[in-house]
Amino acid sequence: MPTKIEKDEISGQHTTGHEWDGIRELNTPMPRWWLYIFYACIAFSVVWWVLYPAWPLPGGFTSGVLGYSTRGEHIASLAAQQTARASQAVGLGDASPEEIESDPARLELAVAIGKSAFALNCAQCHGSGAQGFAGFPNLNDDVWLWGGTHQAIITTLQHGVRWTADPDTRISQMPAFGADAVLTPAQISDVADYVMSLRGTVGDADAMARGMAVFTENCVACHLEGGIGNTEVGAPRLASAVHLYGGERTDVIAQVTRPRHGVMPAWSSRLDPITIKSLAVYVHSLGGGQ
Ligand code: HEC
Ligand code: HEC
Repeated sequence: MPTKIEKDEISGQHTTGHEWDGIRELNTPMPRWWLYIFYACIAFSVVWWVLYPAWPLPGGFTSGVLGYSTRGEHIASLAAQQTARASQAVGLGDASPEEIESDPARLELAVAIGKSAFALNCAQCHGSGAQGFAGFPNLNDDVWLWGGTHQAIITTLQHGVRWTADPDTRISQMPAFGADAVLTPAQISDVADYVMSLRGTVGDADAMARGMAVFTENCVACHLEGGIGNTEVGAPRLASAVHLYGGERTDVIAQVTRPRHGVMPAWSSRLDPITIKSLAVYVHSLGGGQ
């Protein structure tokens, strides 16, 4: 129950005027040091609001008179890194990949840059040794979808494959002969026999003959006569022991029924030209360069 506010004899402080069963509540003020820190914090926050980004607004935020932002800091540090890289990669900037390859010092530098960029950006799809996986080509061999010259590799890296965000990406769509009912299941079975015969598995002669006719009509445009493949359109060599999607007859049927249309990202917007060139030199040096 409220009573009178009065001075407490023992502590010298005033009471709050609240009393319960004869016990009165003291109104002890906050310690000075505490109050000063509290006021200092308020002053600090006002200075902060003025200097740094602070308050959310309907269309953004108050940016602060210093114009600082963590994004800006990030961009500046990326730029500094690029400059540092460029100074380390002296001699790679204006040299052609061929010139780099014929100069042991520059080759060593480019391979080192390419190898570390590969581990960072490419290994998750192509394997840490570039050995590839089903659907992700092996880059160590001399079998190329899009070509193994320096320039072909650079183009693949810059623009990717079926990477729709890049207008210059490499494009070619094998039709879905089965799923879109372009060919009947019997024709697909025959053409699979023919493709297997190109790989050395000889089956029924009549089926292979019919399959060859189907192939000439539907497949030669991209995979060329005898299934030798065509890097112009990224069509793999079919008469080959190396396969992108598997070497069994069922794998051929699966691809002809519903092709996979593998996607490789474009890198020109993410990696600088020297890194891309170094990657191409590195991939080219793995053994299968043309
Ligand atoms: C998201 C997975 C993925 C990543 C990451 C990736 N690739 Fe690829 N790459 C592919 C696929 C899939 C293909 C095959 C595309 C096709 O079917 O034509 C390919 C094709 C290639 C080819 C063409 C091979 C040939 O036979 O012509 C090269 C060269 C290549 N990649 C290099 C790289 C390098 C270097 C990097 C890193 C900068 C990289 N790739 C990152 C998926 C990837
Ligand atoms: C428009 C061009 C085009 C046509 C036509 C075409 N292909 Fe393809 N084919 C490709 C491309 C590109 C790939 C690469 C696979 C992918 O990523 O989809 C491929 C891949 C394949 C593969 C997988 C090869 C491997 O290494 O695993 C087989 C098998 C194949 N085609 C068979 C055929 C047959 C059989 C026909 C005809 C019925 C045919 N293709 C018609 C472009 C074509």
